[in-house]
Amino acid sequence: MRCIKCRQPAAVEVRRHHSAFCPEHFIEFFDNQVRRAVHDEKMFSPEDRILVAVSGGKDSLALWDVLLRFGYQATGLHINLGIPGYSDLSQEKTEAFARDRGAELIIVDLEADYGVTVEDFKRGSERTPCSACGLSKRYIFNKVALEQGFDVVATGHNLDDEAATLLGNLIHWQDGYLIRQGPVLPAGYPNLVKKVKPLYRLAEREIAAYAVLRGIDYVLDECPNAVGARSLLYKEALNLIEQHSPGAKQNLYLGFLQKGRKLISAAEERPQLVECERCGMPTTAQVCSFCRLMERVRIRLRRSKPEPVAPPAAR
Ligand code: AMP
Ligand code: FES
Ligand code: ZN
Ligand code: ZN
Repeated sequence: MRCIKCRQPAAVEVRRHHSAFCPEHFIEFFDNQVRRAVHDEKMFSPEDRILVAVSGGKDSLALWDVLLRFGYQATGLHINLGIPGYSDLSQEKTEAFARDRGAELIIVDLEADYGVTVEDFKRGSERTPCSACGLSKRYIFNKVALEQGFDVVATGHNLDDEAATLLGNLIHWQDGYLIRQGPVLPAGYPNLVKKVKPLYRLAEREIAAYAVLRGIDYVLDECPNAVGARSLLYKEALNLIEQHSPGAKQNLYLGFLQKGRKLISAAEERPQLVECERCGMPTTAQVCSFCRLMERVRIRLRRSKPEPVAPPAAR
């Protein structure tokens, strides 16, 4: 196989584009997909301060890398979720990346800053840890961006993530989610910062190839709590279809953005948002779901933990 641009031996095949590229032209292809996403969806401009949510995995590190190379003002935000055998390594890889590039990085520690870890979401909770964890991450991304004056939050969601979420939303006919699903979530309300997904045109394996070619050292393992998650089943199903019909994933998601979303949003009713009476963030209820989650988890923790021992000075 040869590069379609220069006829040198190809390093990466992109079957859905009937293409193959040498390393140099693959990076060019990757860059063009990101530029196109940012431009077509009006994500941000060079004047904007971008907060990049970085997990330490390939997608978000690749995103941060490409935005820095393009010269954007891109600060990283990493949340240490307190997941044993996973979170500390993720933080280390993120910090090493930031150090290498001299990039600014903000760290939030769920345990130090909020008194809980994702482990606490597991015990006796009616939710799986992943949904409470996702909710907390989205809340913190927004809060940090708001408090530190960022114009936009960028996450590393890729084509596989978005197509799998779409499939899940379709299977369950989640019309409320379908209306809002897309690469840009506009600010729209006070206290709600714009969210963007600049990698939505790139498949997971293309991002992995980019990370390897760029020498990015990332956490290889998935979060241990993701084992058995529905989203992984949907990804597997889509990969099987993609194998037999290259381009199916892209058609499903980009087709939805071009056509499907319009059809669904014809009947759109935007939810009425108000300020959470505890923390002031936007919510459809009196108290936002993050404050309710924290309350539940803290009550559980107080019940399950032994009384604190007296501090050393008092002994
Ligand atoms: P996930 O929900 O784990 O698939 O992650 C989706 C995106 O959320 C990633 O590409 C990151 O941009 C962001 N993200 C996930 N985990 C973290 C974290 N611990 N800290 C900061 N950002 C994160
Ligand atoms: Fe949140 Fe896995 S990253 S539970
Ligand atoms: Zn080439
Ligand atoms: Zn709240």
